Amino acid sequence: MKPELAAAANFRPLRRVASFGIVQFFLCLAIGISRVAGDTVPEVSVIPKPSRLEMGQGRFVLGRNTFLTVVPGTEATGQQLASLLRRSTGLPLPVRRSPAAGEAGRADSIQVTLSGDSAALGEEGYQLEVLPDRVVIRAASGAGAFYGCMTLRQLFPPALESSVLQLGVEWSVPVLRIEDKPRFPWRGVLLDPARQFISKQGILRCLDWMAYHKLNRLHLHLTDVDGWRVEIRKYPKLTRVGAWADLGEGVRIGGFYTRQDIREIVAHAAQRFITVIPEIETPSHSGAALVAYPELNCFGTRRSIAPFPIDPLCGSEFCPGNERVFEFLDGVFAEVAELFPSPILHVGGDEAEMRYWGECPKCQAKQKQVGNLHAWFMQRVTDLAAKRGKRVMGWGGVAKGAIYTCWDNEGSSGWAAAKSGWDVVMSTGNHHYFNYNIERTTLKTAYDFDPLPHSAGLTPEARSHVLGVEACLWGEMIPEDHIESQAFPRVLALSERGWGVEKPDFEEFLGRVKTHVNRLAAMGIVTGPGFGHPIQPALPARAQDAMPPLIYPSCFNRNDEDWRWTLTGIDRGQGYDALYPLHAFDGDLDTYHMTWGPRRDVDSFTIVLSSPASFDRIQAITGMPNGDHRLRQGVLEVSTGYGRWQEVARFKNGVADAALDDRRVVALRIRSTINQPPNAVLAIREFVLWKNGKSTLRELSPVERLRIPAVIPAAGR
Ligand code: ACM
Ligand code: ZN
Repeated sequence: MKPELAAAANFRPLRRVASFGIVQFFLCLAIGISRVAGDTVPEVSVIPKPSRLEMGQGRFVLGRNTFLTVVPGTEATGQQLASLLRRSTGLPLPVRRSPAAGEAGRADSIQVTLSGDSAALGEEGYQLEVLPDRVVIRAASGAGAFYGCMTLRQLFPPALESSVLQLGVEWSVPVLRIEDKPRFPWRGVLLDPARQFISKQGILRCLDWMAYHKLNRLHLHLTDVDGWRVEIRKYPKLTRVGAWADLGEGVRIGGFYTRQDIREIVAHAAQRFITVIPEIETPSHSGAALVAYPELNCFGTRRSIAPFPIDPLCGSEFCPGNERVFEFLDGVFAEVAELFPSPILHVGGDEAEMRYWGECPKCQAKQKQVGNLHAWFMQRVTDLAAKRGKRVMGWGGVAKGAIYTCWDNEGSSGWAAAKSGWDVVMSTGNHHYFNYNIERTTLKTAYDFDPLPHSAGLTPEARSHVLGVEACLWGEMIPEDHIESQAFPRVLALSERGWGVEKPDFEEFLGRVKTHVNRLAAMGIVTGPGFGHPIQPALPARAQDAMPPLIYPSCFNRNDEDWRWTLTGIDRGQGYDALYPLHAFDGDLDTYHMTWGPRRDVDSFTIVLSSPASFDRIQAITGMPNGDHRLRQGVLEVSTGYGRWQEVARFKNGVADAALDDRRVVALRIRSTINQPPNAVLAIREFVLWKNGKSTLRELSPVERLRIPAVIPAAGR
């Protein structure tokens, strides 16, 4: 810090991490505790937590005269910050090019500069100094300046994040000094539009919340069995055929990104210092491509009985014995490489079943030549990517020089790979698969993952190969409008551990989360439950009045707009299990949500209500009309608060029927109480909620009524 600034602001250290004496350390703890005690909210509550923070005295207040200054390299970032600040504050906040020296000292300015010390701050670090009369962000790179602005946003009252004018709020930030840089260069999120298409707008929205949390890699799983999502001019059937599912009766779902869509996504990401990593899955998970071009599978023809992508009778692997497969992939990679500036192309590599390779004469002949077909295939793909200037990344089977995405449950294969010299990104099943139910991967589970644990025994060299972390939001169970409630609050844990807090402290983190969810609410981001960790807003009273309430948004319920709900999904791992979960609660007994399983006795299917409500009766109906696919043994439970589940009925003949008292229900779920056969299929037809003789079931005609289980009473009963 410059001496004159120190004198001006009288800084005191708070929870500094690095280069710190033991006495100061305990002093800081004491300050921290005294600040949190007495029901006050820590004034600074930033996620991810900055590496070093010193509090000063006083506040900087935004006013009509405040302006921003930028330098070459920070213009776009400064403009973004200014337009964001203008929306909720209504202040003019002009942005000026910082001209000559001397301007730097000007009062009433927010200065976004590139004058930072590159040796100290690195590629993404920044220094943020808030003085009573001005704010200065210094970085050595555009990314660092951008992250300084993201931190500054979080110092204002949460209402700043509202997209509409907020009146009566004092737009001020505390005087302080932050020096901050990430521990890991890779802080990613995987989105899976292949399983359920995500609109371009949906992707842009995710990029916004990623950037706000200093996440810098968007991994797009663009192809799989259920759909091919990127326009390839050379192979138009990929999207004409492979992007659409025809559900019959004129209903078609799906979609894809045009080349223009991809350009917009990539540009939006680049403005936020996010690299978009495209994934073209090979050799497996390629069903949609093979439905469009069946000549590339081992049979040379399509055999599916399904009218849309998903080809269960042909497997979803390309035929490695067919040279045309590599011509095809070469053509695809050429266009993908042109569309995505990322130096990295993810090529999949996981879960190749290889069953049909063993029955295919071409594959058998190739195997005699090359030995391990999968490894050989991956090497071919790696060479094709290299030809387009791309380094490959994969879930498995990738050669040295590639980046390994570790998705085993606890990360051991990742650390082993790092020790053997592979670069690794940790996407572990237990800690980073946010598609899993929050009860399986809790906020704490997500937070507790240490990318570099002592127990892994990593040398300094091996540690440098652990590039960072990436959350997966596999899409089977997550329609677009549930992405955020599924991702949050766990993304906050990802952000914090990826940015790299040195001394993780979950309780202290949770304190910041409680403030932070109000920022998310102001953005319109729905935060899902924190399972076991009630996340209630914790705001200073002055900010509280300015905030919209924390709510779950309504999805659709055709019958009663007051019974809004969201679905948190089923913990079921990979597979086709998540087809159409909305049908489990759409008021329609003819539609259902079909799943594999439940496999284990802890599996459950949960509906979270947007606000607590009381009901006279709740019914859960499973099984097809002919009686197949019922839940064999299980219970219907309701929760009156986080984790407080109470059994209200047992399933009999696939139906659970509970009369309720006036307790206020927060969530309800069905839970299997036995281990089901591994291939058991479960149809969840409907949850029916009753109150004062009205139900969430749509009106039934007398004929329809004949077809439904006897357990459904007539309305008004
Ligand atoms: C994966 O979950 N199959 C990468
Ligand atoms: Zn073959």
